[in-house]
Amino acid sequence: MSQTLDVRDAAPRPVQERLFTGIQPSGASHLGNYLGAQVNYVALQDRYESIYGIVDYHALTTVHDAATLRTLTHEMVLDMLAVGLDPARCAIVRQSDLPEHAELCWIFDTVVPVSWLQRNPTYKASLAEGKENSAGLLNYPVLQAADIVIYKASVVPVGKDQDAHLELSREIVRAFNRRYGEIFPEPRAVYTDAPIVLGIDGARKMGKSAGNTIPIFAEPDEIRRLVMSMVTDPLRIKRTDPGRPEVCNVCQLHRYVGGDYLQIQDGERTARTGCVETKELLAERIIEFFAPMRAERARLAADPAVVEDTLAAGAGKVRPILAATVAEVHDAVGIGPRRER
Ligand code: TYM
Repeated sequence: MSQTLDVRDAAPRPVQERLFTGIQPSGASHLGNYLGAQVNYVALQDRYESIYGIVDYHALTTVHDAATLRTLTHEMVLDMLAVGLDPARCAIVRQSDLPEHAELCWIFDTVVPVSWLQRNPTYKASLAEGKENSAGLLNYPVLQAADIVIYKASVVPVGKDQDAHLELSREIVRAFNRRYGEIFPEPRAVYTDAPIVLGIDGARKMGKSAGNTIPIFAEPDEIRRLVMSMVTDPLRIKRTDPGRPEVCNVCQLHRYVGGDYLQIQDGERTARTGCVETKELLAERIIEFFAPMRAERARLAADPAVVEDTLAAGAGKVRPILAATVAEVHDAVGIGPRRER
């Protein structure tokens, strides 16, 4: 029997690129996470074959209480669902369910010079902040590289603070590929249009460990309290002083949560509006912006099975990918039983 081949069927199908990104369950999702990264997690979930990791091995570098880490991991899965990830269209995984990540990290450790890790700006900043100088903290970016490339993911939505880590991931891939052959693609970062979001102190990056965050799912009164404590333009001392919206973190955040940003900027610059008013408005806008997601989160949290079901489905989806990469890496480096080819 002969079959007519339609040329359209014969045309090569574009291979869908894979996306991986990770978020640490080291605290509640905050405005920096959302504006810098989670917006893109959601926007890109259909464009790529997408995998989102709750990276609890990474969080062990800062969270040292077992019950706290478990709670934060559970909460982070709810956050990821509430911001709009759909487990039917992507995979949400818990890193520690997939120890292959840690195995590849070890293999990468045998390739990466310690000096690359010591000069990593995030490592230096962590030490300056007084974080414990563990081997885990030093090796943090090696595990991050393993997280991404074990899926041969090339697209990595992250905030701009992760620039140095992504560059290091690419260097690690190049070093591995030089030694063992072209196995891994070099991953690229995808950023949102937000800059690195500053914390309520207006000085440092908004971060869970800096304790300067505005958690997006905090109670409305807590959001009001935190926003009212934000530092504005330090040179605007009196209500009548004109402000500088470009240096005022409160004004900058208005840009992302709806409302007429240009009018707000103008009000500050001409002293038509005061900092208190601008903060009160920001708090209400944040509350309003996240209200539908907060409601969805509350609905999800009422189902005690939703988190573990989501993680089990995610792990089920990615296990065949992990098995294939691990087998290829074992063959390339010469560990594990010899396989028939
Ligand atoms: P984490 O948990 O600190 O942050 C999660 C995501 O939020 C972004 N982000 C910010 N973006 C802008 N302004 C801020 N103030 C801000 N704070 C956080 C981060 O850039 C990140 O995208 N190292 C990663 C976790 C990780 C990972 C990975 C990421 C582990 N393995 C593999 C990508 C791929 C981190 O610090 O996440």
